[in-house]
Amino acid sequence: NYYAILMAGGVGSRFWPVSTQNFPKQFHDMLGTGDTLIQKTFNRLAKLIPEENIFILTNERYNDLVFEQLPSVTKRQVVLEPAMRNTAPCILYASLKIKKENENAVMIVAPSDHWIEDEDAFSNNVQTAFDYCESNDALMTLGIAPTFPNTGYGYIEYNKSSEDDIKPVNQFREKPDYETAKSFLAQGNFLWNAGIFMWSAKSVVAAFQRNQPELYQLFESGYNTYNTASEDDFIRDNYPKAENISVDYALMEKSDNVYVIPATFDWNDLGTWGSLYDKLDKDSNDNAVVNARVLADDASGNMIRSKKDKIVVVDGLKDYIIVDKDEVLLIFPKAKEQDIKKVLQNVKANFGEE
Ligand code: GDD
Ligand code: MG
Repeated sequence: NYYAILMAGGVGSRFWPVSTQNFPKQFHDMLGTGDTLIQKTFNRLAKLIPEENIFILTNERYNDLVFEQLPSVTKRQVVLEPAMRNTAPCILYASLKIKKENENAVMIVAPSDHWIEDEDAFSNNVQTAFDYCESNDALMTLGIAPTFPNTGYGYIEYNKSSEDDIKPVNQFREKPDYETAKSFLAQGNFLWNAGIFMWSAKSVVAAFQRNQPELYQLFESGYNTYNTASEDDFIRDNYPKAENISVDYALMEKSDNVYVIPATFDWNDLGTWGSLYDKLDKDSNDNAVVNARVLADDASGNMIRSKKDKIVVVDGLKDYIIVDKDEVLLIFPKAKEQDIKKVLQNVKANFGEE
């Protein structure tokens, strides 16, 4: 009865110029290990979940990338979205599909682009969640001990008095402002939401029905087409009508049956070049290098990526992102990495390409 929804529809624009709209980061070997991020995620999930029960939700433009990179996957497992509508529509759609196939399904919903090294600890946490969700109406999250008031994450306030591995959640707050995030950290019983969810198909569908009745109606109206020949038509005509909203706002903030398992594995959502730098091994000068052969003098703390075996000579640069990619070369201070999104807009405006 185990299923997975692998979300692979984002663009990852802060990883430009490697990640682009036509070829986003989840389909790249960001870590330089030989596997792309989606391949790593698929293999991690396949340790617990039968491969044929792993569903991939992505934009229709990534169809070829999915089948090239995950050759064991069949058409039944892939939902191609004709429009980007964030995670709530994607999750409800896939959950209804899975529920129709198996009323008793329990599932994990996971992003395709995270770094998780300790796969055994990950599997243990997910198994604990599955056991609970099989017999309880629960929306289960994985919580990460926060290290700074990051305003790009969801925060989970858990019940202090709980001694269990699974803790009831008092409130879920998506992307608070800086002052609020600071106060959460000071209180001590807040965790970051890892963006990974576990629940039964019944529970998640019921939660959507309660909290997002319009979205529920929209997709439920196609229930009889699910897993049939007319499903593609239904998606094409109806998916774009869905509201653009993330599952965090659509369900998690609104529900009172949310639980959290404090994760026992190290986690990173690989959102920026700097977070990738943090997770990679460093050379003797503290530079993180992917693909390149680097000669560094008076150069440290840099994130360097090129095509395979290209020789890169760096002198006098500290804490920079240096990425050489076909027709684009990026040399950018790590401290300003959040601005890469804006830079990309400027590049498009000035040169009409990415
Ligand atoms: N299929 C599909 N369709 N996938 C999507 C879509 C979509 O329209 N939009 C986003 N995704 C995928 C992204 O590729 C990513 O893997 C995942 O869903 C989460 O989306 P993000 O856009 O990266 O979310 P976020 O970073 O703002 O916030 C979420 O993740 C944080 C942790 O990384 C939230 O769940 C936060 O609460 C959480 O802390
Ligand atoms: Mg993210």
